Amino acid sequence: MTPQKKRNLFVTTALPYANGPFHFGHIMEYIQADIWVRHERMCGNTVHFVCADDAHGAPIMIAAHKKGVSPQAFVAEISASRRHLLDDFHISFDNWHCTDTPENTELSQEIYRRLKAAGLIYTKDIEQFYDESKGMFLADRFIKGTCPKCGAPDQYGDSCEKCGSVYAPTELIDPRSALSGTTPVLKSSTHYFFKLSDPRTVAFLHEWTQGKGADGTGRVQPEVLAKDSEWLEGDNLSDWDISRDAPYFGIEIPDAPSKYFYVWLDAPIGYLASFKAYCARMGMDFEEELMRPDTEQIHFIGKDIIYFHTLFWPAMLHFAGKPFRVPDHVNVHGFMTVDGFKMSKSRGTGISPQDYLDLGMNAEWMRYFLAAKLNSRVEDVDLTKDDFQARVNSYLIGKYVNIASRAAGFIFKRFEGKVSDAAMNDPVLVQLREAADEIKADYETREFVRAMRRVMELADVVNEFVDREKPWELAKDPARAADLQRTASVALEGFRLLTLYLKPVLPATAARVEAFLNCGELTWQSVETPLSSANPISKYEHLMGRVDRKGQLDKLLPDRPEQTAPEAGKPGEKADKKPQKKSAPAADPNAPGGEPVAEICTIDDFTRVDLRVARVVKCEEVEGSDKLLRLELDAGEGRLRQVFSGIKAWYKPEDLTGRLVVMIANLAPRKMRFGVSEGMVLAASSALKKDEGVYLIEPFEGAEPGMKLH
Ligand code: MSP
Ligand code: ZN
Repeated sequence: MTPQKKRNLFVTTALPYANGPFHFGHIMEYIQADIWVRHERMCGNTVHFVCADDAHGAPIMIAAHKKGVSPQAFVAEISASRRHLLDDFHISFDNWHCTDTPENTELSQEIYRRLKAAGLIYTKDIEQFYDESKGMFLADRFIKGTCPKCGAPDQYGDSCEKCGSVYAPTELIDPRSALSGTTPVLKSSTHYFFKLSDPRTVAFLHEWTQGKGADGTGRVQPEVLAKDSEWLEGDNLSDWDISRDAPYFGIEIPDAPSKYFYVWLDAPIGYLASFKAYCARMGMDFEEELMRPDTEQIHFIGKDIIYFHTLFWPAMLHFAGKPFRVPDHVNVHGFMTVDGFKMSKSRGTGISPQDYLDLGMNAEWMRYFLAAKLNSRVEDVDLTKDDFQARVNSYLIGKYVNIASRAAGFIFKRFEGKVSDAAMNDPVLVQLREAADEIKADYETREFVRAMRRVMELADVVNEFVDREKPWELAKDPARAADLQRTASVALEGFRLLTLYLKPVLPATAARVEAFLNCGELTWQSVETPLSSANPISKYEHLMGRVDRKGQLDKLLPDRPEQTAPEAGKPGEKADKKPQKKSAPAADPNAPGGEPVAEICTIDDFTRVDLRVARVVKCEEVEGSDKLLRLELDAGEGRLRQVFSGIKAWYKPEDLTGRLVVMIANLAPRKMRFGVSEGMVLAASSALKKDEGVYLIEPFEGAEPGMKLH
């Protein structure tokens, strides 16, 4: 490992609105940032990782009013519920603050004054809907009425959910206040604007969005830069209305009676307020910390708030001047979806982190699952039960955790906990150590998918080593004690390295492994410090169990009606209950087969299934089975595969021999009464009327065994 200059990182995640408990979207963002932060700490860098509640704004004020409490009390209650969930998901924030605090008031007013002095603030009178009975101006989402375009009733003031058109609230037919039901009146009021269209601001934003952070990589991801450039081209930037009239839960604008900052002005300043409070607690100088030449300021956010974070926010900071600094990076992630749907309580896809924990599910399962799905691009992350179960049970437990249970017992019981020092240079371990730099680089660039894939490949290497060396057989022969010790030592050191590589993702497991291996704190430096007989290991304690499909996953995510195909003979009966997904073709009960089209899958889902052309080399009936034929297939692998297929009713063995078929090559082998089936051949049939025939799929002329289907 090449030593690098130490970094001083100020890292944040978006401040959640303090109007409800965390949902998994929040937790996903924190986990992504936390994995990166833990990796940086393992590099020996200093990280200050902070967040806060986003307290201000009209929705929170109104929700508090409905509950009959002050907005402060409302926010305080939400805030108090945060800590234990963060701890349970092992999110290592150094500080959690709130935007409704003296620090934030002071900083927001200071930044505003500086922007004003820079000539970037002006006022303009605008007309807005006003609810006379409530004595307040109405935000767009508190006005409802009939869509001016399609006539749909009960639509919000900014856009129609029915036809999707966007309009001004004043265009609504029959506008009503959603707060009182009364008809609002138009009223004029002075608003404060931040001049985003100023040539200086535009010039600065061109430069900032295209620039690089201190680490030499782009400030924003390429797809974010493309969006920003679109906004910046062709004078598309409008000035930003930063004021709201009283009554408003927010921060007062200096020298502007009854005017408050719009919540999105003071929210990002909350990052600084949280950092300032943290500095005070730690005896650090806030301004000095910000101005240190080695400080880097890095924000993690979701794709819905790019505009605020890559245009308004850097511009505010730049024109406010020192000690403030512009962000080095804004790292954007996609949304977490469930079964391809947006998370939503009413759809049954709004899984709550609290329910997850209440079902006894391990927080590190989710951390690993998300790590195995997250990369550096702005892509959505889909959670399905099958995928979660496979990744946790087959990969995390099956490949990684099992290594420890396979090796530790021998060392502890047979060799007083001492590894063989001579075994530490085994080629298997050399191979594992050589991978460290690449895995580290993948963490650095947030390519967690790739890091997890590499780690699991290395786990395969260790497992194959154990399968080859068969320690359980060595253990039966006292004369082979040295071989047993060597084999188990290699496996255990392999496990130490894998644990190191997974530590940013699995901090709690790593801590327990460090304790039982007695190997000290694992950092990127410890790659080259193998286990030693000088520090005997302790007894292995069970590290992690498997996820239970029925008792946990099915309860967390009950099957929804649309996931069940209609019963045979009643096609289309449930068609009207199907969700109208944006991109899914609607189910047509008269379509061939009459079966609704399955949930949308991604290209990744598709490529996980390895489909190959194969030749039927041999085919015969299976004694004792009236359904199955036994096939021997050549898929160009230099060996034949045995596959059982339920097609006896439709094909005679002699008709199939020599023909080409399509086979799933990576299907888990299945033990059947007649032997192991090592794949599956594809056939078509009507989903509803199977008795009408089953038809094998045969490739066009020219295809050859082993070819892959794309
Ligand atoms: N309060 C603002 C942010 C102010 S930052 C100065 C806000 N709050 S939020 O609670 O709606 O969202 C907080 C973060 O969670 C955002 O980064 C948002 O993108 C993220 N997510 C919200 N839903 C999400 C998913 N379904 N999946 C992943 N992240 C999601 O916006
Ligand atoms: Zn409409």
